[in-house]
Amino acid sequence: MSGPPPTTPARRSGGAAASSGGGASYRTPIGTHDLAPPESGRWVALLGAFIGAAERAGFGYLQTPIFEDIDVFARIGEGTDVVGKEMYEFADRSDRRLALRPEGTASVCRAFAQHRPTTPWKVWYQGPFFRYEAPQAGRYRQFHQIGAETLGTDDADADVEIIALAAGFFDAIGLQRVPLLINSMGDGDTRAAYADALSAYLRQHADDIDPQDRDKIDRHPLRVLDSKRRATAVVAADAPRITDFLSGESGAHFERVREGLTALGIDYEVEPKLVRGLDYYTRTTFEFRAASLDAAQDTICGGGRYNGLVEALGGPPTPGIGFALGIERLLLACDAEGVFDVPAQRAEVWVIDTAGGAEARDLTHQLRSIGVRADRAFDDRSIRAQMRAADRSGAEIALIVGTDEIDAGTVTVRPLRRSDGGSVDVPQQTVPRSELLGTLRAVFDVLNAPAPASADSSNPA
Ligand code: HAM
Repeated sequence: MSGPPPTTPARRSGGAAASSGGGASYRTPIGTHDLAPPESGRWVALLGAFIGAAERAGFGYLQTPIFEDIDVFARIGEGTDVVGKEMYEFADRSDRRLALRPEGTASVCRAFAQHRPTTPWKVWYQGPFFRYEAPQAGRYRQFHQIGAETLGTDDADADVEIIALAAGFFDAIGLQRVPLLINSMGDGDTRAAYADALSAYLRQHADDIDPQDRDKIDRHPLRVLDSKRRATAVVAADAPRITDFLSGESGAHFERVREGLTALGIDYEVEPKLVRGLDYYTRTTFEFRAASLDAAQDTICGGGRYNGLVEALGGPPTPGIGFALGIERLLLACDAEGVFDVPAQRAEVWVIDTAGGAEARDLTHQLRSIGVRADRAFDDRSIRAQMRAADRSGAEIALIVGTDEIDAGTVTVRPLRRSDGGSVDVPQQTVPRSELLGTLRAVFDVLNAPAPASADSSNPA
């Protein structure tokens, strides 16, 4: 199960219960997936890496509900696909109108407006999000984001800090081919003036725009710019640039962001067509795009400033800046670059009990309580079956307890492999129970020691 498992089986079964003989068999709904070991170990490690980076930068964890009053999400923009076409809406048993969260920023702003924390409020979040999209690689109906938001400051250095958090995280997990694109949407006035100029330009070229994008020209001219359709993209390439419409203040803000990124050694490219798919952005917008992924799903992280959103949700005027990254897409990019592998999750010690299992039960428990990763087989299996299980587990040491050992109060310690997976020639030894820990420590030291140099490499040419 590497990466999100394919959704095809669910599609085949209609995504619901499929009849199989006497009973029904169920599969994950279309566009969703189970996350199981060992792949799940990669998610845990990824979250661990992000938590470290976020906490070093002073961000605390925020958890908001997975569903909210539908109006919270309406503020993302009624004209956006995310709200207009993709939201999972429902009424609860008391007829409240709710929606599964399609993104996190609106909920963070709702939480800010509700609790009025002191500012700057720096929070990070993670979890599932829901959009009714056409599933394909890198695009799911339930997907998972990690995000971070800073509320309560309009300082351009906060924009730089947020971008640096994402860039540093990609660096830490080894991703290299994820260029950063930035733009500025200016303030409300900029946006309105630009939207007028843009729709005038788009109307002039309406015949050349892909028919599926034409209805946006008057309704939502900015949305035309992020269309991936080829004919539309050709027209968009020569469209007026929003950066030419920035007010003095927005221009200075953008300049300070650029200066900060340069000072921190974060490479970027200004992309004036980067308007993002959500309506709340003001000033800075940015995306990290994975060069290794297909253009339709290459945005692994997107974000920007949203200075009016808290107010729109009933709070005091409060500027904000943040990003969210898609975990599934990020891992696809890791796969494509061959970095951030599934971490090894093996036992260190495997207990083999040929005398009924009680010793294995007790010994694994004792070893775990002192911090050793210890495991065992169940069901009183043969010694050969237990040895095979020990071998498969990747454990470095097997502890063998049979009736002889129980009668003598001993344990047999059998080294299986070095910590780096190499073979061992350390003999097995049977030791009194009281000496077990000391023996384990000594054997681990030998197994963890650097591999002895081979005869060839020890003889300099
Ligand atoms: P977004 O661009 O809609 O922004 O989503 C952020 C990231 O979530 C995308 O770049 C992508 O990696 C991932 N993503 C989105 N939809 C899907 C999907 N259907 N399947 C898989 N991955 C997906 C936001 O959500 C904003 N709240 C970001 C933000 C935070 N802006 C300011 N603060």
